[in-house]
Amino acid sequence: MQNVETISLFMTRDHVSGDNELEETLKEVKRRDWERAWNKAKIASARIKTHIFLEEEVLFPYLKGPDLDNWISELMMQHVAIWNLLDNILRLVEERDNETEVKLILLMQLLKAHNSIEEHSIYRELDKELAWNPNILFELRDSILPAGWKPKYM
Ligand SMILES: [Fe+2]
Ligand SMILES: [Fe+2]
Repeated sequence: MQNVETISLFMTRDHVSGDNELEETLKEVKRRDWERAWNKAKIASARIKTHIFLEEEVLFPYLKGPDLDNWISELMMQHVAIWNLLDNILRLVEERDNETEVKLILLMQLLKAHNSIEEHSIYRELDKELAWNPNILFELRDSILPAGWKPKYM
């Protein structure tokens, strides 16, 4: 029996938290409570952007190999789309634009596919690759998004 924290568990939990925060944002948008929607959207955006930063700067560099490289390029291109949608949504919420709803649903669909690839293959590889380095979990927990950082393919 193992009862230890892993990269998979940590990162998957973060996916779930992001999904929940976007759901809450959508709920407020549907109610046209723009004030609350803005607060929720800010929280979701900060979490998801930090998550992307951790993947690109801390985790993905540990994975090498022709198959993995293709997957990782694909995921990093998706990060650009996710990042742009987050900025787009924040602007739409600020402008109290009814298009926010459609964009939020689009982002949630994109994340569903993206997160599923990571959870089913990439994170498992990382668990194997980084079993020797438990400090990586502290790094994931304590890292903050540096001001001005952008996804590498942006
Ligand atoms: Fe990702
Ligand atoms: Fe992820």
